[in-house]
Amino acid sequence: ANANSAALAGGAGTQAAAVEAAPLTILYGSQTGNAKAVASQLKAQAESRGLSVKLVNMADYKTSALKKEKFLAIAVSTYGEGEPPEDAEALHAFLASKKAPKLEGVKVAVIGLGDTSYEFFCQTAKDFEQRLTNLGADVVYQRAELDVDYEELATQWIAGALDVFEPELKSQQDAATNVVSMPSAVASASSQYTKQNPFAAELSVVQKITGRDSTKDVRHVEISLDGSDIRYLPGDSLGVYFLNDEALVDEVLELLAIADDTKVTVAGESIAVRDALIEKLELTQSYPGFVEKYSQATNNAQLQALVEDKAALREYIEARQIFDVIKQNPAAIDAQSLVDCCRKLQARLYSIASSQTEVEDEVHLTVGLVEFDAFGEKHFGGCSGYLANRAQEGAKVKVFSEHNDNFRLPANDDTPVIMVGPGTGIAPFRAFLQERDAREAAGENWLFFGNPHFTQDFLYQVEIQGYVKSGLLSKVDLAFSRDQAEKIYVQDRLREKGAEVFAWLEKGAHFYVCGDATRMAKDVHQALIDIIKAHGGKDDEQAEQYLKDLRSQNRYQKDVY
Ligand code: 2AM
Repeated sequence: ANANSAALAGGAGTQAAAVEAAPLTILYGSQTGNAKAVASQLKAQAESRGLSVKLVNMADYKTSALKKEKFLAIAVSTYGEGEPPEDAEALHAFLASKKAPKLEGVKVAVIGLGDTSYEFFCQTAKDFEQRLTNLGADVVYQRAELDVDYEELATQWIAGALDVFEPELKSQQDAATNVVSMPSAVASASSQYTKQNPFAAELSVVQKITGRDSTKDVRHVEISLDGSDIRYLPGDSLGVYFLNDEALVDEVLELLAIADDTKVTVAGESIAVRDALIEKLELTQSYPGFVEKYSQATNNAQLQALVEDKAALREYIEARQIFDVIKQNPAAIDAQSLVDCCRKLQARLYSIASSQTEVEDEVHLTVGLVEFDAFGEKHFGGCSGYLANRAQEGAKVKVFSEHNDNFRLPANDDTPVIMVGPGTGIAPFRAFLQERDAREAAGENWLFFGNPHFTQDFLYQVEIQGYVKSGLLSKVDLAFSRDQAEKIYVQDRLREKGAEVFAWLEKGAHFYVCGDATRMAKDVHQALIDIIKAHGGKDDEQAEQYLKDLRSQNRYQKDVY
């Protein structure tokens, strides 16, 4: 800041303007938006204390700014085998590189988000703390490591961290007369219904949209938001709570000789154990913490040994649902101890498949039913199994909308878009197309869709063909992987149309990918690199840079899971 900006900002005098207060800089690296949500909450809390803050996505952070930082808060999640989210990759690597500056005297606090069912839990947060420390920064507040059920701990950590940051930030701000703390703008109209306070919505339609001979079971789901103030945009997700399978709950209770109506306390609430197991606790998605607690509560030496062997434990968990762990290890355990072994049931997030401009007070989802055989029995995913098998049409399901500003149609309706959405990855693109149709957006739309078989798995075939006919879809490329001897995937179609894909990018198209993160999105990324090299005359590094630039212009967006 200089004297002019101080004057503009209403500073008291030019003399003091030289003293510049460093804000609390909050850097977040998020994949599904949870770390971003925590970072935003930290920002709001800091502002309500009158502290000046800067909130920046790590992907947009200029590393040259590091030298000026005095107070840093890091909110970052971890994926897969301890990897940083994509947005955090560059900064994560930079901090370990020779180019990283000394950060002596910089005060830092790190909050990590992860999933205890993974071996390298919160590894990226640990890395950041370690790397910042190596550069000389001081950790002023203990790192938090949050599991999927993170809200309460996040709130505690934020309060604690701000208690530590506040005095120095305040005194430094008071000394700097050129800083005017701006109150944060009131959050844009958001619903009263949230993850903590979901809306009980009517389930109106659950329709199978894969063929009878398909290897997959995908359901088109429609939910009525009538009576709620929930608003969503194409690109947003819907959080859905579900009920566990009553038959499995009854089986477990009988096996453990626990009476249905035994009162237990869950999250401070007294409730019958059967209801708790059906409505409140995670019994499908298994994770190490359950095995650990259950092995202790039941004094099961075999399970206890397993807990010590990380690799074996991981394999064990992957092959089982929590129901299986209990059923295979029945023991004398009282109701409360059993409940205490389980973690709170988490809502499942689905990419929304409709546009409110088109469907008004409805919300549509494209749900792939998770099913597999194990131990001589059919197993189903918790939420998809509930929606597909157990919930009757007309049932009430608890939902909330989750905003995702990292997956949005271009602001300009004339901008062309390329959408790559194989399998249930089609969902947000159905929303995009509905929206662009309703808005009569002039921009061209190109869809790449893939699935095993044309006759069985062409999701929303009639609608897509209708959009081709009406001209809304300028181009559609289909990859039915198993309709011929050689597998054909969406990335193969992209490569085939490489010249045109590149031409679209050059004319300003936005590129979207939705669906499988582990293989598809990576393969599509590689296909893009190859296309940019082949048709843009670039080398590997330049092609990566081309995609980086697209990302920083928000023209390359992913919603992958
Ligand atoms: P496959 O199951 O026949 O191998 C949606 O799931 C579609 O994505 C299916 O046709 C599936 O093909 C395909 N798919 C599997 N792996 C993929 C990958 N690495 N990249 C793109 N598509 C893939």
